[in-house]
Amino acid sequence: MADIRNNFVGIKSPNPFWLASAPPTDKAYNVERAFKAGWGGVVWKTLGEQGPPVVNVNGPRYGAIWGADRRLLGLNNIELITDRDLYTNLIEMKQVKKNWPDRAVVASIMVPCEENAWKAILPLVEETEVDGIELNFGCPHGMSERGMGAAVGQVPEYIEMVVRWCKQYSRMPVITKLTPNITDIRFPARAAKRGGTDAVSLINTISSIVSVDLDSFSPNPSINGKGSHGGYCGPAVKPIALNMVAEIARDPETYGLPISGIGGVTTWRDAAEFLALGAGNVQVCTAVMTYGFKIVEEMITGLTAWMDSKGHRTLDDITGRAVQNVTDWQYLNLNYIAKAHIDQDACIKCGRCHIACEDTSHQAITAMVDGVRHFEVKEEDCVGCNLCVNVCPVENCITMDALPAGSLDKRTGRPVDPNYANWTTHPNNPMARQAAE
Ligand SMILES: Cc1cc2nc3c(=O)[nH]c(=O)nc-3n(C[C@H](O)[C@H](O)[C@H](O)COP(=O)(O)O)c2cc1C
Ligand code: SF4
Ligand code: SF4
Repeated sequence: MADIRNNFVGIKSPNPFWLASAPPTDKAYNVERAFKAGWGGVVWKTLGEQGPPVVNVNGPRYGAIWGADRRLLGLNNIELITDRDLYTNLIEMKQVKKNWPDRAVVASIMVPCEENAWKAILPLVEETEVDGIELNFGCPHGMSERGMGAAVGQVPEYIEMVVRWCKQYSRMPVITKLTPNITDIRFPARAAKRGGTDAVSLINTISSIVSVDLDSFSPNPSINGKGSHGGYCGPAVKPIALNMVAEIARDPETYGLPISGIGGVTTWRDAAEFLALGAGNVQVCTAVMTYGFKIVEEMITGLTAWMDSKGHRTLDDITGRAVQNVTDWQYLNLNYIAKAHIDQDACIKCGRCHIACEDTSHQAITAMVDGVRHFEVKEEDCVGCNLCVNVCPVENCITMDALPAGSLDKRTGRPVDPNYANWTTHPNNPMARQAAE
């Protein structure tokens, strides 16, 4: 059976599934039950500095986006860091770590961007004997207005400075949690590396307004008729997170830097995709807030079964395997030609593919043949864009088939060139022409 034990920057856990810093990890009561359910590790709900704890709103703090079946796709929140006393958290963390020595317990920290504030909290956390710290440079609401969270994560120089303090004043492994609310994720990741971070984790939540109440004209969640932007997470953000993880994994300046992948992980498959794009483990929040701690059972059995079926023995066999296949657009093979094909037995004749192709693509799907509804691809018009596949309600009813080298492309009237050729050398590319001259 595949071995899914995880070693992330020296922090060991029985599996790569950690709970992200959030409500599921905000007290011993939750974390104990999470460990009983099988979670490999937790990042404790973010700690703030000693003193009066932060104050949350006393009304709705969540908003959401749902699919047509009411399945939760995206969650938005305006919650702050822990609103419990620092010492209450520290005492509980120490006890939980003692009770569960084989699980990972990581402390998430957010204090003002001042050396003394970090110098003061680090020994207190170290005393709990937890496995490491995660620096919360990501929270996009509330705390960022006080100069913390995303306000730090958006300035690479601040990231580097704080990471350096943490490495200077603590022996614990440092995981730097990045905000996605930035133009190019490579810059904060590089800064964290320059500061000496042991790893980065991403993504934290994305600044968002999920909806507006059209009776009161207040953004949701609404507090007495007013709303504020919140942080967006859940399945909807997974594509953004995957891209950012891949960007860091393939950047020569951060290549090899351990990454903890976060954002929309709901199933073992999501986790495997993050691992393939370079993550050493994953963290989960929204899925547990939606379905409860027990989903980890399916994640463990699913990942193990898939690894067994593919002959992958350890997580190292998967981690980073897809990174070499992520490239820039200009290097994609322009001689690769595919055409859509409709399985007539599977087709329910709804007509969506026809409308999509007719109105927004290349008018390549029939609607009627001899007065009968019939949907068939006209190869001579199909550019292989894949839109029809994505709008068809029947899975695998439309497939994209690559044309073999040498066969005729009916659209261009030319045979398929077997050679790889990309935009950098294409005759229509003015830069390529200049280079050749
Ligand atoms: C209600 C809520 C509170 C959160 N609080 C924190 C926090 O205190 N510290 C932190 O680093 N991230 C916090 N997060 C962000 C999550 O740790 C995670 O980065 C984000 O939700 C993306 O993962 P997901 O798509 O699995 O939810 C919070 C998220 C939610 C939904
Ligand atoms: S792949 Fe694109 S062009 Fe071809 S039939 Fe489908 S939608 Fe039309
Ligand atoms: S969208 Fe799919 S099911 Fe509907 S007509 Fe087209 S091929 Fe058939």
